[in-house]
Amino acid sequence: MLAALPEEIAGLVEQMSSRRVARWGQRDFHAGILHGQSCVIALSRIGKVAAAASAATLIHRFDVKAIVFSGVAGGMGPAVRVGDVVLAEALIQHDLDASPLFPRFEVPLLGQSRFKADPGLTGRLAQAVGAFLPRAPVLEDGSPPRLHRGMIASGDRFVSGDTERAALRRALPDLLAVDMEGAAVAQVCYEHDVPFAMVRTISDTADEHAAASFARFLAERAAPYAQAIFSAFLAP
Ligand code: ADE
Repeated sequence: MLAALPEEIAGLVEQMSSRRVARWGQRDFHAGILHGQSCVIALSRIGKVAAAASAATLIHRFDVKAIVFSGVAGGMGPAVRVGDVVLAEALIQHDLDASPLFPRFEVPLLGQSRFKADPGLTGRLAQAVGAFLPRAPVLEDGSPPRLHRGMIASGDRFVSGDTERAALRRALPDLLAVDMEGAAVAQVCYEHDVPFAMVRTISDTADEHAAASFARFLAERAAPYAQAIFSAFLAP
């Protein structure tokens, strides 16, 4: 299991039994048992390179059979609000553009731009989110949080302005959310034939208020969301 921010893994690491810590590439990989399942938890840190390197280490050093990423994201779809949860069904790198040599978004020489999440793992995450959402805090307008499934785009940018947000929505009309890691991990998993799934809680809506909303969400809600969803995922 990977996450980009310390708040998202701290509680889970503490709950592990038989925990061993190995350090690779300036990262700690916590291997042990959580809810009866053998797993490795690591902090990828932020950005596509950090996430890809972490995923490759999990595959090569720990021989993991699947990778699940949990974290926060900026909401892009019109119905996606702060506090909602998004499950990735397809992932794309929105800042990858080798045109005119290759089509925009395509990973050069791999011939692919969208990477699919594993349907079985994603289904299990959906059940975990479904078990957690009825207990989750209501949104700012008093309505209950919702689960969305669809496309998430990743890039080495914190999207925080209406102009960039609108340009991304024009380029990728079915986009639900943006993050800074997911599609990089999805590409590494695709290249190694390792099943991958990702769950993201919406911390902001990638607009002018994104930085403040992100900071508030992280301080107040990111850890309990990640912990509750992962616990339900591992121990249904
Ligand atoms: N993760 C959370 N919010 C984000 C945003 N607005 N842009 C990119 N990654 C994010």
